[in-house]
Amino acid sequence: MRFSGVIAAGLQLSAAVASSGNGQIPLGQQVSSSSSSHHKRPGHHGHKKPNIVFVLTDDQDLHMDSLNYIPLIKKHLIDRGTLFKRHYCTTAICCPARVSLWTGKLAHNTNVTDVNPPHGGYPKFVKQGLNNHYLPLWLQQAGYDTYYTGKLFNAHTVENYHSPYPAGWNGSDFLLDPYTYMYLNATYQRNRDPPVNYAGQHTVDVLREKALGFLEDAAANAGERPFFLGIAPVAPHSNVESALFEVPIDNLPDLEEQVLFTPPIPAERHAHLFPDAKVPRTPNFNPDRPGGAAWVRGLPQLSAANVAFNDHFYRQRLRALQSVDELVDAVVTRLDALGLLEDTYIFYTTDNGYHISQHRLQPGKECGFEEDINIPLIVRGPGVPKGEVSEVVTTHTDLAPTLLRIAGVDLGEDGGFDEFGFDGAAVPLTRRDLDEAEVGRHEHVTVEFWGFAATEGNLFRDDEQRLYVNNTYKAVRVIGKEYSFYYAVWCHDEHELYDLKTDPYQLNNLLHASARPPTHLLGVPFDKVIARLDALLFVLKSCKGGTCTKPWAALHPAGNVQTLRDALSPRFDAFYEHEQEKVKYNRCEMGYIVDAEGPQFETHGAVYRQGARWSEWV
Ligand SMILES: *[C@@H]1O[C@H](CO)[C@@H](O)[C@H](O)[C@H]1NC(C)=O
Ligand SMILES: *[C@@H]1O[C@H](CO)[C@@H](O)[C@H](O)[C@H]1NC(C)=O
Ligand SMILES: *[C@@H]1O[C@H](CO)[C@@H](O)[C@H](O)[C@H]1NC(C)=O
Ligand SMILES: *[C@@H]1O[C@H](CO)[C@@H](O)[C@H](O)[C@H]1NC(C)=O
Repeated sequence: MRFSGVIAAGLQLSAAVASSGNGQIPLGQQVSSSSSSHHKRPGHHGHKKPNIVFVLTDDQDLHMDSLNYIPLIKKHLIDRGTLFKRHYCTTAICCPARVSLWTGKLAHNTNVTDVNPPHGGYPKFVKQGLNNHYLPLWLQQAGYDTYYTGKLFNAHTVENYHSPYPAGWNGSDFLLDPYTYMYLNATYQRNRDPPVNYAGQHTVDVLREKALGFLEDAAANAGERPFFLGIAPVAPHSNVESALFEVPIDNLPDLEEQVLFTPPIPAERHAHLFPDAKVPRTPNFNPDRPGGAAWVRGLPQLSAANVAFNDHFYRQRLRALQSVDELVDAVVTRLDALGLLEDTYIFYTTDNGYHISQHRLQPGKECGFEEDINIPLIVRGPGVPKGEVSEVVTTHTDLAPTLLRIAGVDLGEDGGFDEFGFDGAAVPLTRRDLDEAEVGRHEHVTVEFWGFAATEGNLFRDDEQRLYVNNTYKAVRVIGKEYSFYYAVWCHDEHELYDLKTDPYQLNNLLHASARPPTHLLGVPFDKVIARLDALLFVLKSCKGGTCTKPWAALHPAGNVQTLRDALSPRFDAFYEHEQEKVKYNRCEMGYIVDAEGPQFETHGAVYRQGARWSEWV
């Protein structure tokens, strides 16, 4: 029932978009190829390099069951590809996460750490020189035609979209602020054309037609040239009615006034779905006992009315995702019709995760909890195992290297650091690589955040805040066979440690003053484990290139330590507990201001060389 209605609605919509005169004319090729017919063309199997379609949703969770509500994505991608269950973003907010995705660098190396200037947004991306040094340009150099539609970066606006244009795209149709997150009043900006408003049309449905148009354009050349197509819908992000990007961040009261988040808006045909769905009542759902860092710990329990609203918010997310489900179905169907499906990798992920009511939090992100950082990554394509669920640890910084490797670019000994500045390592995509990664791949994720956390739901109390400042922290997530930790140090010197083996919902911060930590972890005294985690974080918080994937090698150049388990050897006790500097900030800042961030490993770190200090060696 549902699907036939959906198809009918989809057809009407294509007709509406086609007749709106928004012709799909690719740059540098002034004839539209969209009129080409959909039947399979012969001769596509000869080309050497595979195509890549990359679908990037916004704020989609892995932990609140969103994957169970998108049956077409399940059918086309999860059942036909590999789901990476341990995939993480490294900075849990839109713009920094996307900049990390499209550059392969951690936020401390892009220094795009916020959604808005001065520390983030499209202007900061340009200022950092990244518009001349990111994925689409590298793909073009590798012989790809590149297309992108949807949200690119925050603060990419109706005013600055041409100064300069985002580089590297053969065809582009970007959502622009301040209309990016308005589900029913989107503004898109195509190639070098002026922005076009789509009042009254559902943004994801508009996007679907744009994506299919680019697919046709790309297919016209697919015999000779492979293509990359990025598709970035806003769902299931909140609907945002504001000019947030215009307000300076040092003016918090004004900023609070301007922020108007409302639940996502589904297409009308989906508005009635899932009437009984609720946020999963996991143990960390609106818990009786507060937890987390100070600002989270200070949150009162949510009222019944608040919980009911948050459940509604949750349903709106699932409903808004239905348009994405149909979009993916349409793209896969079209790829198949064009005879390109078997030669095309399809990636599906999201910029960051989301929480609703866990730890008493209102809807939002920006935290280091699993809900915010552990997100879906699904890949299907040539050689990718089907129906596989992998537990190898991967992050957003790994995806640019992955795509270049697919594009046949030799990343060299240093994994592409010298040439591309990569901090990540390509995601294993074949049976053999996945098996090897089970034993050889790193076990950690670098997590970092600067600035404030925002409440995206309704406020239910007079004293409730919309923005929480000093949400500035560094963290490391470590996932080994016998352990699973999240360790964080905050700018105001709070510390967090969750042992996710025994506390998967992160309810018990073992480093809080009120905690009664175990005397031992992993068979060694508790403090000894903390000392190792702190040193690991010390390396990661300013790492570059290979050090970000092999941090233990920076501490132990002899190469005899590759995991937390290795580092726990008692012969390193003095090194970790007494010789190494501890992670500590000098103060809280809204951005990456190095002198606020305490000792730096490169200048203050101790290195273990058979017991001798670094300073004794050089
Ligand atoms: C990062 O950018 C901020 C401005 O947004 C600047 O003050 C800071 O020095 C930069 N940090 C680094 C490490 O370049
Ligand atoms: C895409 O852009 C690249 C770089 O400008 C160019 O070399 C290539 O010919 C373009 N492809 C098409 C189909 O125009
Ligand atoms: C919808 O977008 C247009 C700009 O394209 C703007 O003028 C108008 O105010 C917007 N409507 C709302 C309700 O925000
Ligand atoms: C945030 O941190 C700054 C600098 O460390 C401090 O001066 C300020 O009082 C803090 N604000 C809040 C609300 O905690």
